[in-house]
Amino acid sequence: MRPYNHKRDLAAVHAIWDEIGWLHDCQNGKKGMKRFLRETVGIVEESDGRIEGHVGIRDGLLLHEGRWLPFSMVATVTSSLVYRVGGFATRATAAAVADAAERGAAASGLGMFDQGFYDRLGFGTGAPDHRVSLDPRTLRVPRLTRRAKRYGLQDIDRIQACKMASRRGHGATVFEGGGDTEAEMRWYDGAYVLGFEDDDGVLTHCFSGVRKEEAGPDRIKWMAWQSREQLIELLSLLKSMADSLYGVRIGDPPGVCLLDLVDRPFESAEKRAKGAYHQPALSTAWEQWRILDPRAAFAGVRAAGSTALTISLTDPIEQHLAAGRPWRGLTGPWTLRLGDSSSMEKGALAGAPVLTASVNALSRWWLGVRPASHLALTDDFDADDGLIEELDRCWRPPPPRNDWEF
Ligand SMILES: CC(C)(COP(=O)(O)OP(=O)(O)OC[C@H]1O[C@@H](n2cnc3c(N)ncnc32)[C@H](O)[C@@H]1OP(=O)(O)O)[C@@H](O)C(=O)NCCC(=O)NCCS
Repeated sequence: MRPYNHKRDLAAVHAIWDEIGWLHDCQNGKKGMKRFLRETVGIVEESDGRIEGHVGIRDGLLLHEGRWLPFSMVATVTSSLVYRVGGFATRATAAAVADAAERGAAASGLGMFDQGFYDRLGFGTGAPDHRVSLDPRTLRVPRLTRRAKRYGLQDIDRIQACKMASRRGHGATVFEGGGDTEAEMRWYDGAYVLGFEDDDGVLTHCFSGVRKEEAGPDRIKWMAWQSREQLIELLSLLKSMADSLYGVRIGDPPGVCLLDLVDRPFESAEKRAKGAYHQPALSTAWEQWRILDPRAAFAGVRAAGSTALTISLTDPIEQHLAAGRPWRGLTGPWTLRLGDSSSMEKGALAGAPVLTASVNALSRWWLGVRPASHLALTDDFDADDGLIEELDRCWRPPPPRNDWEF
């Protein structure tokens, strides 16, 4: 394994993406990919003089309980068709995650191709997000009162600034650079960004869609907005397109239950059922997360109650790491103190109750995917009933919601 060199290795990694069909529905595949990978650091493996595997990771920030934490997103993991099940993807992802931990990331996340593979590296499944398809005419928002503007590749910096400034809550991530935004616009035939500016010409709120044929259903990929008025104006814009846009597929924006803004959702869904403009509502998790630095993960958080315990933690990543590197995963005893200013430190707390957990399950609890009592039923999260009840009482982060697609 060696570091990915963007200039030298792009063509070889493109050949892998091509071979495995990742770019089959994209136009400008290589141009988009070039921008996408430019903001990653990566690892490649050569076999017989040819690159057969690649992992790319991108540094950003994660908003956790009001604090922006250094974060690393595993952006891409690929093994060529002739290089599978030899352990490359496992070893290289483990190494990339350890690199991120050594650079100071508090946590890592990724979009999973399926559940199971990344569990072996300590990742636990995130919160399901809710996606619906709806007829924009049924949106309960006022008629649009001004014209929107369209934005293209020449506006990437403005779009990126608008995305970065967007309203966010617990569990959100952000990434500098705009490479993924540009890649998306290059890749998807029919990609568009529409939005509004303030009196000074600053792009304040916009959404990105992907057009499908004449009348949809379009996919709304993300929305960027800061206030209630801006959110409503974006939805009014969508509604203004309803005469020739019969359906959109859209996720709940952060903090918003779209159902609150839809007129007669069941009637409308029934009328469209089995038609081209209907897809059933779907609530599933696409992402996985893990803590890399427990000290930073809990430092200073104001918990809902006070308690102290020992966590006997297991971390499966260590068996996939090369010998001798400084960060070796998190296996071992830790002391967690929850209270006005929480902390997690290495070592057991004498006489304290003990929670036995995998880092996968602990990460889910930390993020607020599930409370302790739920994880105790189905995950590696074990303690006596008294401690589980105490943890339910003391640790109650809001539901996490990440709207920056990995
Ligand atoms: C997924 C992928 C990267 C794995 O690459 P690889 O080099 O074959 O992976 P490894 O050799 O490290 O690991 C393969 C092992 O993981 C196991 N595995 C794969 N998916 C799994 C899952 N969902 N749950 C549990 N185990 C899984 C395999 O069965 C295999 O097990 P084995 O080692 O006991 O034979 C490769 O199949 C690929 O490039 N797929 C297409 C691109 C893709 O989907 N990438 C992931 C993007 S998130």
